[in-house]
Formats: sequence, C-alpha cells, structure tokens
Amino acid sequence: MRPTISSIGKIALIITLLVDVWHISYLKAEESQFRRQFIENYTTNSLMAQSMLIKQNKDKIADEVNSLITEAMMPEKSYQDRMYLLDIANAVATMNIHWNNAGEELLKKVEGLQKEEFAKEKKRTEELEKLKETEKVPGNFIIAAHKEELAAKGLSPVIYPHWVHRSFFRCKVCHEDIFIMKRGANEISQTKIQEGKQCGTCHNGAISFNANAQENCVRCHSAGKPEATPLIDLSYYNPNKFKEIASRVSSEWKPENMPGGKLPLDKLGFINWVELDKAKAFNPRTTINGSQDTEGVRETYILFETSSTFLKNVLFSHKIHSTWVKCSLCHPNTFKPELGANRVKMIEMKDGKSCGRCHGKVAFTYSDCLRCHNQTKENLPEGVLINHPATSATSQ
Ligand code: HEC
Ligand code: HEC
Ligand code: HEC
Ligand code: HEC
Ligand code: HEC
Ligand code: HEC
Repeated sequence: MRPTISSIGKIALIITLLVDVWHISYLKAEESQFRRQFIENYTTNSLMAQSMLIKQNKDKIADEVNSLITEAMMPEKSYQDRMYLLDIANAVATMNIHWNNAGEELLKKVEGLQKEEFAKEKKRTEELEKLKETEKVPGNFIIAAHKEELAAKGLSPVIYPHWVHRSFFRCKVCHEDIFIMKRGANEISQTKIQEGKQCGTCHNGAISFNANAQENCVRCHSAGKPEATPLIDLSYYNPNKFKEIASRVSSEWKPENMPGGKLPLDKLGFINWVELDKAKAFNPRTTINGSQDTEGVRETYILFETSSTFLKNVLFSHKIHSTWVKCSLCHPNTFKPELGANRVKMIEMKDGKSCGRCHGKVAFTYSDCLRCHNQTKENLPEGVLINHPATSATSQ
C-alpha cells in the first residue's frame, strides 16, 4: 500500500522528534564535556586552561552549575557522591565570580545546599550512634524492617528489650513457640500484632499494655526518643513496678532476696541473671498459659577440659541452660546430645555459632573469658561428665 499524505506527515513528525532528542543528548554531551574538562583541569592543577575554559563558556556556567546541583540532589545519590558534585559546583561558581565578574547568587545557592547536607549527615550519624548505644545492652534489639513505612507515619523504629521480658519470662516462653531465635526471621508486623500474634500474644491489654491503644505506640516505637532512655540505662527497673508486673503475669519478683536489695550486676554493669536465680530473687514463667513445662530441666554438668595452655576449664551446667531454654534450641542442630560428640572453638562464637548463638547476643558476652574459663580440678560437682579435648569430635 502506498503511503498516504497523512502517514508521510507522521513520519516527518517522528523524524523531527528524533532529531530533537538527538539534539538534546548532543547538548548534554557537550555540557558534560565542559564538566569533564573542568574536573581534569582541576585535578591536574592547570590554572591557565581552567581560566580559558571558564571565560569561553561564560554563558553556559549558570546551566552547568544548576545541572550539577540537580544531579547532586537526586534522592538516590549517596552522601559522598552528592558532596563531590556540590564541591565541583562550588568551584565552578567561585571561578565564575573570579574570572567573569559574575554575581554571588550561584555560589550562595551551592554553599547553602552544602551546609544543609552536612548538617543532615551529622544528624544521621548521631542517630546511628544513639542506636548503637541502645544495642550495647545485651539483648536490646532495634527492629526496623519497616523503617520507611514507619518514618512516613512519624513513628520510630521499635526497641525490643530482652532484659525487661526475661525478668518475667524464661526464654522458652517465646523461643520458639512465638519467635524463631534469629533476628529478622519472624516478619513481625503491626497487623499480626493486632491479631494477637507475636508481640500481641501479650501486648493485648490483658497480660501487658495494649498495642492497639494510641497512647502505647511510643512505648515500643521508641528508638531515638526520650522514652528509650529507661530501657538503655536500666532505669526502667523499679522494684515496686517489677513486683506489680510479676504479680499481674503470675511470676515472682523478690527484691528483698537480692544482695543489698539491689539488682546483681556483672563485671560489665549488666544484670547477672545467674545470681538472680541463685538468690531466688525471681521466678520467671516457663509457659505462657500456666501449663506444665513438658521438657523440664536436665541436671547434669559437663566439664569441657580446655585445650588452651593458659586458661582454666569450662563447666557447662545443663540445669542453668535448660531452665532458661528448650532442649530443641541446642539439640540436635547446634550440639549433638552425646557426651564428647562436640568440640567447642572460640572462633565459632564470634560468628554467632556454638555457644555464641546466645552468648554475646542475649546471654553474657564471650568476651568475658573468665566467666566461663573458671573451673579448677577442685570443687567439681558430683557425677560431672567430662568432655576431653583429645577424644572429642569437632562441633557442627
Ligand atoms: C517475650 C519474648 C522473648 C523472650 C522471653 C526471649 N526472647 Fe529472644 N527474641 C525475641 C524476639 C522478638 C527476637 C527478635 C526476633 C526477630 O527479629 O524477628 C529475639 C531474638 C533472639 C535471638 C537472636 C539474636 C540474633 O542475633 O539473631 C537470640 C539469640 C535470643 N533471642 C535469645 C534469647 C534468650 C537466650 C532468651 C532468654 C534468656 C530469650 N531470647 C528470651 C523474643 C524473646
Ligand atoms: C508491643 C510493641 C508495639 C506497640 C505497642 C506498637 N507497635 Fe507497631 N510495630 C511493632 C513491631 C515489633 C513492628 C515491626 C517493626 C519493623 O519491622 O520495622 C511494628 C510495626 C509497625 C508498623 C509498620 C507496618 C506494619 O504493618 O508492620 C506500623 C505502621 C506500626 N507498627 C504502627 C503502630 C501504631 C500506630 C501503634 C499504636 C497504636 C503501634 N504500632 C504500637 C511493635 C509495636
Ligand atoms: C510473653 C509476653 C510478652 C511478649 C510476647 C512480648 N512482651 Fe513486651 N512486655 C511484656 C511484659 C509483661 C512487659 C512489662 C510491662 C508491663 O506489662 O507493664 C513488657 C514490656 C515491654 C516493653 C517495655 C516498655 C514499657 O513501656 O513497659 C517493651 C518496649 C516491649 N515490651 C516491647 C515488646 C515487643 C516489641 C514485643 C514483640 C517483638 C514484645 N514486647 C513481646 C510481655 C511480653
Ligand atoms: C560462653 C563460655 C565461654 C567464654 C565466655 C569464653 N570461652 Fe573459650 N572456650 C569455651 C569452651 C566451652 C571451650 C572448649 C574447651 C576448651 O578448649 O577450653 C573454649 C575454648 C577456648 C580455647 C581453646 C580452643 C580454641 O578455640 O582456641 C581458647 C584459647 C579459649 N577458649 C580462649 C577464650 C578467651 C580468650 C575468651 C575471652 C575472650 C574465652 N575463651 C571466652 C567457652 C567459653
Ligand atoms: C544451651 C544448650 C543446651 C541445652 C538447652 C540443652 N543441652 Fe544437652 N548438651 C549441650 C551440650 C553443649 C552438651 C555436651 C555434648 C558434648 O560433650 O559434646 C550436651 C549434652 C547432652 C547429653 C549428653 C550428656 C548428658 O547430659 O547425658 C544429653 C543426653 C543431653 N544433652 C540432653 C539434653 C536435654 C534432654 C535437654 C533439655 C532438658 C538439653 N540437653 C538441653 C547443650 C545443651
Ligand atoms: C540457647 C542459648 C545459649 C547457648 C547456646 C549457650 N548458653 Fe550459656 N547461658 C545462656 C543463658 C541464658 C545463661 C544465663 C546467664 C545470662 O543470660 O547471661 C547462660 C549461662 C551460662 C554460664 C553460667 C555463668 C555463671 O555466671 O555461672 C556458663 C558458664 C555458660 N552459660 C556457658 C556456656 C557454654 C560453654 C556454652 C556452649 C557449650 C553455652 N553456654 C551455650 C544461654 C546459652
């Protein structure tokens, strides 16, 4: 079929459009050529060439600076890239004043943006520092998978404080019936909470404060807010308040049994949970609904004879561990339930494996060497089982 007049017209139009697009990209290439030349002169310190470039392109300078600004302020740019582009814009604007007698507005504009961006970055790093401070307390976790969504609604990320919860509940209440013991593995969401799952198992107005009530949002969404401070420096702890909570959730809190009436602390200033148990100063719940803890507690002790020449042996108490956590958290995936079947290596702990699944995350840190490596040949409990370094297999 022969093309009609109107289709010829269309083709002409398309060609014009294509030329326009080509023309624009050609112009852009020319602009970036100025930029490339400017940067090259700048880095090679070629002052003569630079002044020529600035003078010859006098009419283009405002566009150049503005396009640098536009590019710099694109939301996906990193702070470093943004400041790099603004630095170039600043240099172009400065030389424009110097060699072309231009006004100061362009430079003022760039400097204003640089100042703003610097202040924003400072605030951001300060916030990061604050978050780090929060997580210094063992088991204080920031939960922030929905950070953007929260920010859009003016809510802070969530602080989950293990220490508050383990004052009233053993680990086995939550791990792993309510939460898998791995950060980020539970896809926690407000919808599930409001349906009475996850945090909502308790934060329903019956066991603890209601996550549906407007005035309670900030009690969880507290990262970076003044409400977070008591959770970080342990000032949330108040003997009378804890007694009140304990009686509400049918656990026990007995400050009168604590040495000196005070929370026992470890070397690093964090709560010593083993001492709390020894003093019978608390009695956290083992199930959520008061039913029997079916797995129970294993009473054996295992002595890990050390392969180190400078440290003492490590006494592992099944009783301490199975009072807090379920057998299935350790057996069979982390440790084979068989004497001598596992060899513990420190390097694995730093990677969050072996004993480091809990120690250094929620239980006291593996950096507190002597809290584990403290067992002499004397004072061994009766019937202690021995894990010899020479005869033991490598742990998984
Ligand atoms: C009231 C519920 C609750 C109790 C009790 C509890 N936890 Fe957790 N635990 C959580 C939540 C919530 C997370 C984070 C889950 C997530 O991010 O999806 C978590 C995560 C963890 C993690 C994962 C850390 C990581 O880096 O992946 C460890 C380890 C842990 N808990 C150990 C313990 C130990 C040990 C105890 C007892 C001393 C305990 N938890 C008691 C709720 C609880
Ligand atoms: C008991 C603690 C708790 C309380 C109280 C609470 N939240 Fe949350 N909320 C969470 C946790 C945990 C998340 C998951 C956070 C994440 O992954 O970033 C969350 C997530 C959210 C999200 C992200 C989107 C989503 O659906 O998960 C919104 C929005 C939200 N909460 C709003 C609220 C509002 C509004 C209130 C008060 C009515 C409130 N929350 C009270 C714990 C709580
Ligand atoms: C097994 C029950 C239980 C679960 C599950 C639980 N909490 Fe709690 N939580 C409590 C109790 C009890 C308290 C003590 C406060 C009270 O009830 O007065 C508490 C206290 C807190 C506090 C201390 C702040 C305050 O104002 O009292 C925060 C924060 C908190 N919970 C967040 C969470 C988040 C986030 C989750 C889920 C990731 C969660 N909790 C899951 C029972 C629970
Ligand atoms: C949570 C308990 C625990 C803590 C805390 C701990 N260790 Fe160990 N460590 C063990 C166990 C169990 C073994 C295996 C028995 C052995 O060889 O001593 C071990 C093994 C070792 C070994 C010999 C095998 C290897 O991996 O090199 C050295 C050396 C060692 N630990 C040094 C340290 C030092 C240094 C620290 C402090 C930074 C430390 N440990 C903290 C439990 C711990
Ligand atoms: C915190 C981790 C942890 C928990 C929780 C735990 N175990 Fe163990 N278990 C170990 C380690 C470590 C060994 C030592 C294995 C070796 O010598 O290589 C062990 C050894 C054993 C053994 C062989 C030695 C013995 O005691 O007879 C059995 C059986 C066993 N566990 C059963 C259980 C049962 C049942 C529970 C729950 C009531 C439980 N364990 C809870 C870590 C744990
Ligand atoms: C599933 C979590 C978990 C694992 C895995 C685990 N622990 Fe523990 N451990 C705890 C908790 C919880 C406590 C109570 C003290 C605390 O929370 O700081 C504890 C306490 C201890 C204590 C008592 C310290 C004292 O002051 O008397 C020793 C020693 C110890 N652990 C050694 C080990 C060794 C060695 C391993 C590896 C073979 C190990 N733990 C693996 C959770 C764990």
